[in-house]
Parts: sequence; C-alpha cells; structure tokens
Amino acid sequence: MTSTLFSISGPVIRGKQLGRKLGYPTANIKPANESLYHPYTGVYAARIDIGPDHYYGMANIGFRPTLSESSFTIEVNIFDFSKDIYGRNITIHFLQRTRDELKFNSLDELVRQMEQDERETRTILSSFLNANSNSQ
Ligand SMILES: Cc1cc2nc3c(=O)[nH]c(=O)nc-3n(C[C@H](O)[C@H](O)[C@H](O)COP(=O)(O)O)c2cc1C
Repeated sequence: MTSTLFSISGPVIRGKQLGRKLGYPTANIKPANESLYHPYTGVYAARIDIGPDHYYGMANIGFRPTLSESSFTIEVNIFDFSKDIYGRNITIHFLQRTRDELKFNSLDELVRQMEQDERETRTILSSFLNANSNSQ
C-alpha cells in the first residue's frame, strides 16, 4: 500500500468552474467535518478513491491567493479523468507535498506553474507506483 501523509473524505461540491477554463478542472471537496484537521496548505501529489476505483492527480489545499475572491479550498485535479462526480463522496490521500501555494500576477502564470506541477507530480507518482507495484 502506498504510504500516505493524510487523507480527507467528503462530497464533491461545485467550485467557481474556473479550473475547466484554465485546462485544469478540479473536484472541490467539502470535508465531512468543518473543523477537521487538514495538512499544511500547499500542493500535493495525491491518490483519489471514488467508490472502488483509484485515481491519481495533484491537490491544492489553501486560500487561492491568485483569485480575487480567495477562500479556503481543498481541491484536486484528477489526471486523465473527465467524469462528472458532483455529489459523489471521494477520499483524497495526500502522498507528497510538492510546493507552497503562491500568489501569481496572472492566471497565465498560474497555468504555467500548474503545467510544471503536472510534470513533476506525474514523475513522483510513477516512482511511487513502481516502488509499490510488488507490495499491493
Ligand atoms: C495542483 C494545483 C495547484 C494550485 N496552485 C495554486 C497556487 O499556487 N495559487 C493559487 O492561487 N491557486 C492555486 N490553485 C487553485 C486554482 O486557482 C484553482 O484550482 C482554479 O482557480 C479553479 O478553481 P475552481 O475549481 O473553483 O474553478 C491550484 C490548484 C491546483 C489543482
């Protein structure tokens, strides 16, 4: 089993729907308990469980300082995934923290950073999966 720093479950809620326009749609989750502890804010490589299925992606926990209306959010971009999962209960397993959440001067700069995050996260995930392929 892949080692996990922390896991959070909750239903997928509608975000601002901006992620879709940026090319990185995200599932935003409402934690099951409002006062739940969560990992330190930042960007993480993640495993996502939806029912019996496992997926992988990159998650952000924080206040999204680049956006004009910043608010606390836990969200994940699931790689190679395009299903509608609003209302579904999902679990995000935070596997490895990759960076701090940053304030960018423009959405273009944020997207360039997310492209870099995707490359870095896919590399991290492939080494996680290789390391664990004999111990599932
Ligand atoms: C991997 C990842 C990294 C992110 N990094 C940042 C960041 O450094 N700064 C920031 O303001 N928002 C960051 N975000 C949040 C985006 O601003 C947010 O996903 C986008 O605006 C879409 O929001 P929506 O789902 O509410 O439409 C990140 C999101 C993801 C998935």
